[in-house]
Amino acid sequence: MQAACLCRVRPFDKLHSFTTVEGMKSQSPMPTPHNASRKPANKKLVAALLKWFAKEKRQLPWRATRDPYQIWIAEVMLQQTRVATVIPYYQRFLEIFPTVESLANAEDGVLMKAWEGLGYYARAQYLRDAAQTIVAQYNGKLPTSREALLQLKGFGAYTSASVASLAFNQDCAAVDGNVMRVLSRVFAIESDTRKPAAKREFQRIADALVPTGSAGQFNEALMDLGATVCKPKKPTCEACPLIRYCRAYQEGRVHELPLRSPQREIPHHHIAIGVVHKNGRVLIALRPKEGLLGNLWEFPGGKLKAEESLADCCRREVLEETNLEVEVGKCFSVVRHSFSHFRITLHAFHCRYERGRATSKWSQKIRWVKLSELADYAFPTANKKIIADLSANPRFTRD
Ligand code: ADE
Repeated sequence: MQAACLCRVRPFDKLHSFTTVEGMKSQSPMPTPHNASRKPANKKLVAALLKWFAKEKRQLPWRATRDPYQIWIAEVMLQQTRVATVIPYYQRFLEIFPTVESLANAEDGVLMKAWEGLGYYARAQYLRDAAQTIVAQYNGKLPTSREALLQLKGFGAYTSASVASLAFNQDCAAVDGNVMRVLSRVFAIESDTRKPAAKREFQRIADALVPTGSAGQFNEALMDLGATVCKPKKPTCEACPLIRYCRAYQEGRVHELPLRSPQREIPHHHIAIGVVHKNGRVLIALRPKEGLLGNLWEFPGGKLKAEESLADCCRREVLEETNLEVEVGKCFSVVRHSFSHFRITLHAFHCRYERGRATSKWSQKIRWVKLSELADYAFPTANKKIIADLSANPRFTRD
């Protein structure tokens, strides 16, 4: 059903002949995605893009280096995370881990603290895994081909192509959501960008457009165009170097593209969290290495069951996870947080230790810490907000 409404795909050969906004029938003056690099219109399009980039390129820290390691770190951070957020993380990460070897030897706690707040935490662990392989198999130097990079942990199609092109000048296109948006508009491609088949289609089109020897510039130009001009909402088409090549613009359909099937409804969970106080310390637990928020610390807690009160849920979860019996006090913090496939609302309660010996049933480690020591541990973003509320309201209190 979704596919029927989304994939109003017109064969490309039909698209080659179209009516312009002026209403004149045109015989393919526009760029076409097939055999992209061989079409003269596409050559002009790429030349216009590169000329624009030479003038308008954003000055970003990872563009001031040729060091493949530094470029790799930036490209991994930039997946799913905005440029402005990444910059301070990137700089701090490279101070802590200046070389592949230092990353390969990173301790869990230091690595996760350096990544704390960036999200998609498995990326940090994959970085270290890949660094270990690079040290063991490549003498500490990143391999230069897209194919060899693809074999490393955490390197998908995007990271392999971006590192290969930006660090090693390999002729391959790095296709992310921004790039798909630009290409879908320029070529009026109506494929559903959520679908893997569409991603492969955009990859083929972009690879065919790459100008020999300038893939890095081409990729960054498309990224910048997507981020600053061809934006999802309110694109500034008048400022676009590709305006005369853009089919969506010519057809007045810029706001219709790209097509994306609607996301399935996102589940929402309520979670009760217990901050257990004992002798001026609180209890924290280290999540398992694998899975969501792996290797991050948290307060014990879990999902609310049907017919259960939040306070009862808190008491049950603390007992199940840590073996401690507690008195549940005041709810001092409510935090909402979205993950890619679900949303949560955390309800954090003060809890007073009553009896039992803390044991880590599910977590890797469990530890009593002073409030002043919490900053030494890496927590998920939602727990950081609870910690901020806790410092304003640090003692056990009843409702
Ligand atoms: N997004 C992903 N890679 C990027 C880069 N090299 N520059 C700017 N934005 C990006």
